[in-house]
Amino acid sequence: MNIEKIKSQFPILKQKNRGKKLIYLDNAATSLKPLSVIEAESDFYKNYYGSVHRSVYELGEKATNAFEGARNKVAKFIGSKDSSSIIFTKGATEAINLVADAWGFSNLGKDDIVLITEMEHHANIVPWQVITKRTGAKLDYISIKEDGTLDMESLKNKLTDKVKMLSITQASNVLGTINPLKEITYLAHQNNTLVMVDGCQSTPHFKIDVQELDCDFFAFSGHKMLGPTGVGVLYGKQDLLEEMEPYQTGGGMIKEVGLQESTWNDIPYKFEAGSPNSSQVIGLSYAIDFINELGINEITKHTEMISEYAFKELSKIDGITIYGPSQNRISIVSFNIDGIHSGDIAQMLDYEGITMRSGRHCCSPLMDKLDISSCLRLSLYIYNDSSEIDLFIEKLNATITTLS
Ligand code: ALA
Repeated sequence: MNIEKIKSQFPILKQKNRGKKLIYLDNAATSLKPLSVIEAESDFYKNYYGSVHRSVYELGEKATNAFEGARNKVAKFIGSKDSSSIIFTKGATEAINLVADAWGFSNLGKDDIVLITEMEHHANIVPWQVITKRTGAKLDYISIKEDGTLDMESLKNKLTDKVKMLSITQASNVLGTINPLKEITYLAHQNNTLVMVDGCQSTPHFKIDVQELDCDFFAFSGHKMLGPTGVGVLYGKQDLLEEMEPYQTGGGMIKEVGLQESTWNDIPYKFEAGSPNSSQVIGLSYAIDFINELGINEITKHTEMISEYAFKELSKIDGITIYGPSQNRISIVSFNIDGIHSGDIAQMLDYEGITMRSGRHCCSPLMDKLDISSCLRLSLYIYNDSSEIDLFIEKLNATITTLS
């Protein structure tokens, strides 16, 4: 990939951070936006803005066509055979809440179990805590091993006939671990357990095929994959979505409304109450175009290559602890330096133009499992290159010397 050409398409990379050249290393939190995505939203507002699904006039028709075109594009992007399986939400968090609430309320009961893992971020923990409390069900956790991979024995042992749902990340936002989802889905289905996949970290990085994974639900967010904030996607198998009650109610999700009763629209509209986040959805479709033009397999290769390089260079630092496996990982490397608080390092690097996340990464149970209060996280994407990693390592070493 031509990284310089890619960089030139991201206007914010021309900005400085604390007066220094910006080195953006916080892609697992949110990615930067290419000009085509920024302009797609402005073009929509300038040239064909109108009410989606609710108007006969030309502007509304154009807006609706762009919105539904985005749905088709998303379906193709993740290998869904039907676009009615694609529900637009305001983010992955809302997509997981939708399933926990709309599926969980009707399908969970006393003593049923929802299984998640010790490596989930809060978005895939808290919705399940709430729905299991409301329904009398239990929430249990599959362990992780010392090396940060999923303990498959723990999974097999915990997969009893009481487990109705297994909700799992495809790739950890701290450890970088990629979970063997096909095997997990197979085991869960043998047990009549549904599988919900949190694809927040995987979707920007490698080819997703929901049919091949055979997952029942799949959630991801737009803003981590070059798209706008305020848009996420829930994929669901059609029969499950048909059976589920709505999550939110109001206009757009109904067929008929009487004084006391209403009937629900067909999927996916049953789950899209109110005027939709049309500009964000359209922006997301341009993000998918951008990714498709680069080629998702090329993106995988590039991010794997630079993260292996970062991993190797970081491993040379004295007193470093790197969390997660050394192989089969996405381009996330989390670490601590003996005797120095992660927040202090992040703050000093910020003054060198280097932006990275420190803290608990919305993963408090994982931090407790690792027995740490916080860590630093390097997360790389398409516009990062090895010279940025060299600069980062140089500044990190200097920071360690200063703070030691
Ligand atoms: N889940 C996001 C992260 O990992 C917010 O930073």
